[in-house]
Amino acid sequence: MAQSKHDFIERKVGWLMLFTVLTVSVGGLVEIVPLFHMKSTTTPVEGLKPYDPVRLVGRDIYIREGCYNCHSQMIRPFRAETERYGHYSVAGEYVYDHPFQWGSKRTGPDLHRVGGRYSDQWHRIHLLNPRDVVPESNMPAFPWLDRPARIDDIEAKMTALRKVGVPYTDDEIKGARKALEGKTELDTVIAYLQGLGTALSAGKPAAAAPAPAAAAPAADALGKVFFAVGSSDLPAEAAAAVTATAEFLKSKADAKIDLTGYTDKTGDVEKNLELAKERAKAVREALKAAGVSEDRINMKPPVSITGSGDNADARRVEINPGS
Ligand code: HEC
Repeated sequence: MAQSKHDFIERKVGWLMLFTVLTVSVGGLVEIVPLFHMKSTTTPVEGLKPYDPVRLVGRDIYIREGCYNCHSQMIRPFRAETERYGHYSVAGEYVYDHPFQWGSKRTGPDLHRVGGRYSDQWHRIHLLNPRDVVPESNMPAFPWLDRPARIDDIEAKMTALRKVGVPYTDDEIKGARKALEGKTELDTVIAYLQGLGTALSAGKPAAAAPAPAAAAPAADALGKVFFAVGSSDLPAEAAAAVTATAEFLKSKADAKIDLTGYTDKTGDVEKNLELAKERAKAVREALKAAGVSEDRINMKPPVSITGSGDNADARRVEINPGS
C-alpha cells in the first residue's frame, strides 16, 4: 500500500511539487519562527542606539549606491575573520537594522567593524577616489556624493521605522531636519560608516570574546600624541595628553584606557606596524612615569594605514577610554 502511494506521488509531477513545497515550508518554519522570539536575536546589545538622522540618511545612500554589492556586514565566528575584522557579529547588533545589510558577496572587505578604523578625512578621500589612498583599489569612485543630502523625507523615514519597532521619540523626529542641516551626502555616509560595529565595544563585549581590532572611536579620544616621520620618540607636546589621561584615570577608579599606535601610509607595512607599536609603547611608558599602573592600559593592535600619503595627522597615538 505504502508502495503505491509513493508511486503515485513520484509519477504525478503536480502532487510531487505540492508535497515538496509543504515539506520544505514546515521545515523552514520550524527553523525560522523560533528566531523571531529568541531573546538573543531580539534584544539590542548594550550600548546599541537607533541610527541618528545623519547616519540614517547615510545608510540609505549606502543602499542606494549599492555598496552592499561588494561589502558584507557580517563577521563570522572564524579565526581568519575575527583576526582581520574584529569581534564576530552578534544578532543583537542588528536589532534596529531595516533592512539588514548582511550580504555575502565580498569584492571589498567586510565593513561591520569599520567604525573608527579610519579618520573621517580618510573616508572622504577614499569615497571620492579610492586610488588616492589605496593605489591598488578597484572600488568605484563616488564623486557625486559631495552634494547636499536630501532632508525633506527624514520624518517619514523615522516614523516608518518607529512602526517596525525602532524607539524614536517625537522630539528626535522633530529635531531630525536640524541635525541634517548643511550635511552633504558624503558627510552622512561617513557618519554611518564611523558608527558601524562600535556598539559592541561601547557596551559589554560578549564573554571571552576578543576585543574588536582597532575599533577606537576617535570622537571621544582622551588625547592624541603626534610623532615625527619614522620616529617613536615621545615629543615634548605629549605632556598635556599624558597628564590629562592620568587625571582621568585618577578620577575614575575602575576605568581603563586603550592605546592605539598609528603610522601614515608611506613605507613598508610590516615596519609601520612595528613603528606604530613602538609609539604606543612610548606613550605607555610616559603614563607609567606619571603614576598610571600598567594594568589599566590596554595596548590595541597597531594601525598602519590612515590618512593619505604624508598626512601628519596619521602619525599618532590615540588614547581612548578603555573597553
Ligand atoms: C565594485 C565593488 C565595490 C563597491 C560597489 C563599493 N566598494 Fe568599497 N571597497 C571595494 C574594494 C575592492 C575595497 C578594498 C580596496 C580599498 O580599500 O579601496 C573597498 C574598500 C572599502 C572601504 C575600506 C574598508 C577597509 O576595511 O579597509 C570602505 C570603508 C568602503 N569600501 C566603503 C564603501 C562604500 C561606502 C561604498 C558605497 C558608496 C562602497 N564601498 C562601494 C569594493 C567596492
